[in-house]
Amino acid sequence: MKNYLSVNDIDNLSDWVKEARNLKANPNQFKALGEGKTICLLFFNNSLRTRLSTQKAAIHLGMDVIVMNFGGEGWALEYNDGTVMDQGKAEHVKEAAQVVSQYADIIAIRAFASLTDKKKDESEEVLNAFKKYATVPIVNMESSISHPLQALADAITLDEVSTKKKPKVVLSWAPHPRALPHAVANSFVEMMQLQNADFVITHPKGYELDSRITKGAHIEHNQNKAFENADFVYVKNWSSYSDYGKVLSEDKEWTITKEKLGNAKFMHCLPVRRNIVVADAVLDSEQSLVIEQANNRTYSAQTVLKKILESLP
Ligand code: CP
Repeated sequence: MKNYLSVNDIDNLSDWVKEARNLKANPNQFKALGEGKTICLLFFNNSLRTRLSTQKAAIHLGMDVIVMNFGGEGWALEYNDGTVMDQGKAEHVKEAAQVVSQYADIIAIRAFASLTDKKKDESEEVLNAFKKYATVPIVNMESSISHPLQALADAITLDEVSTKKKPKVVLSWAPHPRALPHAVANSFVEMMQLQNADFVITHPKGYELDSRITKGAHIEHNQNKAFENADFVYVKNWSSYSDYGKVLSEDKEWTITKEKLGNAKFMHCLPVRRNIVVADAVLDSEQSLVIEQANNRTYSAQTVLKKILESLP
């Protein structure tokens, strides 16, 4: 595999989940594979889980890891061709991507959506520029529109916990005081399209995700109805897609409570705002899978890095 940019780069989800669970059972078994190889993690935005789990995954595979907070410490990058660079941008991505490629065998990038310019966000400017100009494989650690390492970790968690061949899985919007991107929700939807599940999306009107991603998925605007007989409730806030980047509602009726959840398992990618998105009683209960989801981020990243390492010349 050359790059891991979206869930669509997964050729067989059940094989990948099986591989991840095998790596989880014995994380150091392929330590020799990454010996002498370096991964460079470039963060244009904050992170806890992605930063640490991807490093841990690389260490399990015997790799050396370089991490750079590019957003705060790198030169401001120019992305457009032919620009007269007489303003604030000090370096063109053409040079930057080729230079980082001299130091790394794999480059992983986190670059969130701006939520102010839909067209620019959808062009995946940072990720695609590195893909174009870097000479080594690229891994998406959450871009403007997708978070495929999270989605693979979620698939691993579902596989570990589910007792049914076709569980009912609900993706629910929940309130949040700030405008958040669509990346986690998008990739979860794409991953569910590869799963055998009764999948329902619930959100207030105005919070429809990109229809090119949801592709006719079952949408139920009544959250309680959507939760009926659910086995898993995956919760995430996202801002409006049609009224791009806007917070249209902070309706606390959508906060996840124990009563609403019933017997379902609770999933969230973290970080999560307690008693806004979800009640303490849910997060602190046995029904919450959030810590195991975070744990599985290591094996999600390790599966991806292993596949890339195996395909390096
Ligand atoms: N879920 C997730 O990507 O967490 P971080 O933003 O902390 O990396």
